[in-house]
Amino acid sequence: MRDALDNPFSPGSDTIPEVWAGRIEQLSDWRDVVRPRRLAGLPERGRTILGEPGLGKSTLVRKIAQEASRAGDWVTPQLRIPAGSDPLKLVADAVLKLADAAGLPASREKKISDAISRVQAVAASGVSLTLRGVDGPEPYSALTELLVEVGVAAIAHGDVMALIHIDEIQNITDEKALSQLLIALGDALTHEVEVTVPGGARVSRSLPIAVYLTGLPDFEDMAGARKGATFARRFKTTTLAAIDDLDLAEALQTFVLEGWEVPDGVGGTASVFMAPDAAAAIVDLCRGEPFLFQLAGEQAWYAGASQTITADQVRQGWRGAQREATAHVERILERLPAREKQLLEAMADLPAAERTLTRIAEKMGFKKTTDAGPTAQRLDTVRGIIDRGKPYSFRHRAVEAYLTSDWPKI
Ligand SMILES: Nc1ncnc2c1ncn2[C@@H]1O[C@H](COP(=O)(O)OP(=O)(O)O)[C@@H](O)[C@H]1O
Ligand SMILES: [Mg+2]
Repeated sequence: MRDALDNPFSPGSDTIPEVWAGRIEQLSDWRDVVRPRRLAGLPERGRTILGEPGLGKSTLVRKIAQEASRAGDWVTPQLRIPAGSDPLKLVADAVLKLADAAGLPASREKKISDAISRVQAVAASGVSLTLRGVDGPEPYSALTELLVEVGVAAIAHGDVMALIHIDEIQNITDEKALSQLLIALGDALTHEVEVTVPGGARVSRSLPIAVYLTGLPDFEDMAGARKGATFARRFKTTTLAAIDDLDLAEALQTFVLEGWEVPDGVGGTASVFMAPDAAAAIVDLCRGEPFLFQLAGEQAWYAGASQTITADQVRQGWRGAQREATAHVERILERLPAREKQLLEAMADLPAAERTLTRIAEKMGFKKTTDAGPTAQRLDTVRGIIDRGKPYSFRHRAVEAYLTSDWPKI
C-alpha cells in the first residue's frame, strides 16, 4: 500500500490524472456547447486554450478527447508540435487517420480518393509543397477538402464528431505554415454543406467537426496580431488560470470520506484515507497549480505507509518537492520578457493595497505611469498572471507566493 504502483497522483505525466480537479467551465463548454451545436449543424468556433506552463492545457483537452472517443467520436491523438517542425505534415497525417476512421479509403468516389492522395502528398512534404511552387491547389486546401469529406461522412454516420487537438501551437514559428494551418482548419469549421431534411427541403448546415488548439500565451501574439480578425472569428480563445481551492478540496474529498481504493497485495482491495487537515495542507501548498497539486499529492503518498495520509506527511513530502516547485515557478518567470518580469517584481515589492499602476510604474523607474500600461495589460489579458483591478492583484498564486514570501519553503 502507498507505493509507486498504486499512487494515483501524476505530476507531469502525459496521462489524464486519476485525481481530477475543476475545469468545469471548459468541460461543460465541450459537453453543452461545442459538441451539441456542431452535431446539430450549427456554427460554433474552434477553441484555443492558452496558459502558462503547468496549468493543465494539454491534460484538459486530452480529457475532452477521451470523453469524445468514449462517445464514439473520431478523435485524433493529441498532435504535439515540436519546435521548428512542419505542422502541416503532422496535421495531414492526423487528417488521414480521421479519414480512415470515417471509412473514406474504401470509397469508390474519385473526388475522395483524389483528396486522400493530395493529403498524402502534404503529409510527406508539408508546407514545402507550396515553397517548391508545385502546381495544383495549396496544401491547406487539400486538408480542408478531406476534412470536409470526413465531416460529410460523420453526418451520414449520425451522432459522431471529428475532433482535432493540436498542442504546443506556439512552436509553429513559420508564418506561412501557421497561416496555412489556421486557414485549413478555419475553412473546415466554417464550411457548410446542403442536406435534405425530413419533408424534403434542402438546408445548409455546418460540419460536425471540432478543433482545439492548446499552447503557451505567446501564441496569441503570433495568431492574434497577424491573422487578426479572421482568426478571432473562427477561434474562441480562453486563457487558463489557477484552479480554485474549492475545486482542489473537492477533488481530495474522496480520500477524506471514502478513501482511495488500492490493491492490498493479497488479491483484495484496501482504502487509503487522507486526514482533513492533510487535504487542506495540499490545497494550500500547491497554490492552485495543477502540476504542484499532483506533485504535493504524490510526495505525501510516498511520505509514509499508514492507512491515512497525515498533514505531517504532506509537509514532509513537500520538503522533498520544494526544489521542483521552485523550478516550476522559475521556469514561468524566466520565460517572460524582462519588462514583464520587472513589473511582477515591482508589484510584489509593494504592499497589496498599494499595487496601483502609478506606484508600480514609479517603482519600475518609468517617468509616465502610462509607460507601464502595455506591459501590465499583457500580463493580464494575454498571460492571465495578474488582474488589473483596483488595486492590481496576482491571479497566478504560485508566482505571487514565490515573489512575496518564503514559499515553497515551509
Ligand atoms: N484539472 C486537473 N486536475 C488535476 N490535475 C491536473 C489537472 N490538469 C492538469 N493536471 C496535472 O497538472 C500537470 C500539468 O498539466 P499539463 O496539461 O501538462 O499542463 P500544460 O499543458 O498546461 O503545461 C499534469 O501533471 C497533470 O496531471
Ligand atoms: Mg502542455
